[in-house]
Amino acid sequence: MDKMSENVVWYPGKVSLEERENRNGHGAACYWFTGLSGAGKSTLARTFEKKLFDEGRQVFVIDGDNVRHGLNGDLGFSAEDREENIRRVGHMARLMFDAGFIVLCCFISPTRALREHVRGLFPQGRFNEVHVNCSLEECIRRDPKGLYKKAIAGEIPDFTGISAVYEEPDGAEYVLDTAKLSVEECLNRLK
Ligand code: ADX
Repeated sequence: MDKMSENVVWYPGKVSLEERENRNGHGAACYWFTGLSGAGKSTLARTFEKKLFDEGRQVFVIDGDNVRHGLNGDLGFSAEDREENIRRVGHMARLMFDAGFIVLCCFISPTRALREHVRGLFPQGRFNEVHVNCSLEECIRRDPKGLYKKAIAGEIPDFTGISAVYEEPDGAEYVLDTAKLSVEECLNRLK
């Protein structure tokens, strides 16, 4: 999935991750929220961000809907474009991790291969896959952006859960059932 440009040499810095973490008073980490559109990824991540921020942590959310307005505005929802979307944001998350942040990423990231790829960008133990688990029926009922209605009417091609695949994670560090648990209850499980 990743290639390397030719004739480039990695330039090391003079500030280590450990030094950044010592200054911050906490470790860097990545929480990768995956799930269907409308499952609650952004809601959970934004509330988690506020909680950690108020505790004095360096934390930042990278969100699919926002990144697709700018950096990834050239990408659509074919399998190839989703792969490129996740490839780019995976590296962006790794850069923020290197800067010492707790990075919260909200992307459908529909396949196991995509999620394994981003996991591999981080040191062992620093990547937390968070499965925001919610049935398709419940997501259709919520339909916060009216997209399921359009997708079911055939107006949006390749819509995850309707006309494009979502592979359920197995082995995610966290499974948060947003139809059964409150936002607070979900966040209390994240360590
Ligand atoms: S991903 O599959 O590449 O990880 P990403 O999380 O960036 O997707 O973007 C998903 C968001 O884009 C959804 O929450 C929804 O608002 C919007 N969207 C627009 N078209 C689609 C589509 N065909 N499938 C899924 N989401 C879509």
